[in-house]
Amino acid sequence: MQIPRLHPDTIDQVKQRADIYDVVSEHVVLRKRGKDYVGLCPFHDEKSPSFTVSPSKQMFYCFGCQAAGNSIKFLMDLQKRSFPDVVLDLARRYQVSVQTLAPEERQELQRQLSLREQLYEVLAATARFYQHALKSPQNSPAMEYLREKRQFNDETIQKFNLGYAPAGWETLYRYLVEDRHYPVQLVEKAGLIKPRKENSGYYDVFRDRIMIPICDIMGRVIAFGGRTMKDEQPKYLNSPETELFNKGKTLFALDQAKNGIGQLDQTVVVEGYFDAIALHANGINNAVASLGTALSIDQIRMALRYSDSKQLVLNFDADKAGTNAAQRAIGEVADLAYKGELQLKILNMPDGKDADEFLRTHSPQDYRQLLDDAPLWLDWQIQKITKDRDLKQASDFQQVSQELVKLLKNIANNDTRSYYVSHCAEILSLGDTRLIPLRVENLLTQIAPKPEYRAKLTVVKPESRKSNPTTGEHSLLEQAEALLLKIYLHCPGQREEIIDALDVGDLQFSLSHHRFLWQQILEIPDATGRDLISRVQDRCLEFPDELSLVLHLFHLDEKSQKEIIRTPQVVQATVACMEKVLCEKRLLYFKDLWEKIDPEIEPEQDKVYCEAFYREKMRLQELQNQRLFSIIDLL
Ligand code: UTP
Ligand code: MN
Repeated sequence: MQIPRLHPDTIDQVKQRADIYDVVSEHVVLRKRGKDYVGLCPFHDEKSPSFTVSPSKQMFYCFGCQAAGNSIKFLMDLQKRSFPDVVLDLARRYQVSVQTLAPEERQELQRQLSLREQLYEVLAATARFYQHALKSPQNSPAMEYLREKRQFNDETIQKFNLGYAPAGWETLYRYLVEDRHYPVQLVEKAGLIKPRKENSGYYDVFRDRIMIPICDIMGRVIAFGGRTMKDEQPKYLNSPETELFNKGKTLFALDQAKNGIGQLDQTVVVEGYFDAIALHANGINNAVASLGTALSIDQIRMALRYSDSKQLVLNFDADKAGTNAAQRAIGEVADLAYKGELQLKILNMPDGKDADEFLRTHSPQDYRQLLDDAPLWLDWQIQKITKDRDLKQASDFQQVSQELVKLLKNIANNDTRSYYVSHCAEILSLGDTRLIPLRVENLLTQIAPKPEYRAKLTVVKPESRKSNPTTGEHSLLEQAEALLLKIYLHCPGQREEIIDALDVGDLQFSLSHHRFLWQQILEIPDATGRDLISRVQDRCLEFPDELSLVLHLFHLDEKSQKEIIRTPQVVQATVACMEKVLCEKRLLYFKDLWEKIDPEIEPEQDKVYCEAFYREKMRLQELQNQRLFSIIDLL
């Protein structure tokens, strides 16, 4: 659902009232250091604090991972919520009255705000209703199912607030709408009832099912899974997606598991609700369940936030369903694993059992042993590739090595890749260590990217000279541009000089994210004000990708603070650096034109290009003679 655009006044007021210390300290333990506060960064793993909160600037900044922003940005990043969502929440908390851009949108907004709260309420009431029904003697088969068939004790049933949806067509409907007077549309929006097709009226979505509440990270009920006790289809019926429930962003039992994940520094992901519950019942309290879909990055990040070493064990029916199905279930997690951002292990249960079934006949220690023995995902894939193959047979050898090459190509992390290159080389050497270097070399050639086709340049007129910016020069340019933007943002006294210098040279930022930031700066009326940084940041919040590339510019560490102030020629140096790049481009451009001209046929054009070429060349010489670039190198 689209949230109406908020009035800038509302955003401003929220920013003024939502104190950064107040907001952050709810989530991070902060200690006072000087006039700021420090703590462990919630956005990356660290052992010593590099996360700072500045009440005077109303900003946070992490020297470790460069996460930065104001209180709104903090909550957006931490809770993965949208800008308007966070602003609205803070507005409520700090009693800021909400205005939207169009007055008629205001009513719609308040309706939506209260809709979410009402949905939480009706879902909580429903969970209590199902729990109550489970305990009623007339529904004893449901309780028997949980106690006998699933072997859950009362403590577990209570802990997960398990319940029972009675068999009638309108039991919940009558309770919520007729007895409790919840609006019928609200109950429908909560995904609990559906309108009848033929006649008027509504019927319950969940009937005669064991009910498993699905909670958000704070333990609020946002949806239900309902299991049939018979052989009905579907075996599990789940709430539809609602305002509160997004399947791809929810992990079942994460609210119960977050502490365990932190303590054990590991997350176990299983497929079924009852697998997760059974694990918790057996004291393995770092288990969560995916909701029967491929794992999404959002889901994994949510879990990984609580653990340092980012170890994730997938306990999926990977063997039963075959490698491809496992690959699909692993979903977007694969990318993170190839990049080395998480340590992914695969736990295949003996005899294709799931965790719940296994624990009925084995001890929790047995399961822990399986967790300890679970192979890393890459090792698991290699095992799959080489399983039942005879590498002494030429055809098997070739097939295996091709599949290994394919696997190695996926590994984006350099260290991991070199490790696995040698590992695979060893496998392919069949115990003959003398062969290993040869195999390594073979693998490396096969996984190396194909060289790009390069057009051959024939230089006729000017002396052949390499004038393309090299990588080194490119990073110099990047530094220069970043520095100029930093000075502009942090030193109001220098802004005019910067604008002038850019105007005179008709200069542009060449990196797109710098251009983006500059555009944002220019679009703020009276951008000379002191609050420029926070206003620019607010504008950028709508562009998270670009924002992430320029965030670090909003903050000065002590070192660069001193350097910027102490070095008088920095602005000139940075501008000179930008101009140099432009000059080099123009030089190449005119050179190209000049080469294509035949002086016999077009003598005048020939002269024009020749002059232009030498003009740029001399300007370039001048810029180089100013020796300004070294200043940037020093910074
Ligand atoms: P499984 O079919 O693997 O079953 O579903 P299970 O968890 O072992 O179930 P029990 O032990 O027979 O009770 C795994 C998960 O997939 C989703 C559910 O989240 C379930 O927990 N699922 C499965 C559905 O959403 N709908 C279905 O019909 C089946
Ligand atoms: Mn099961």
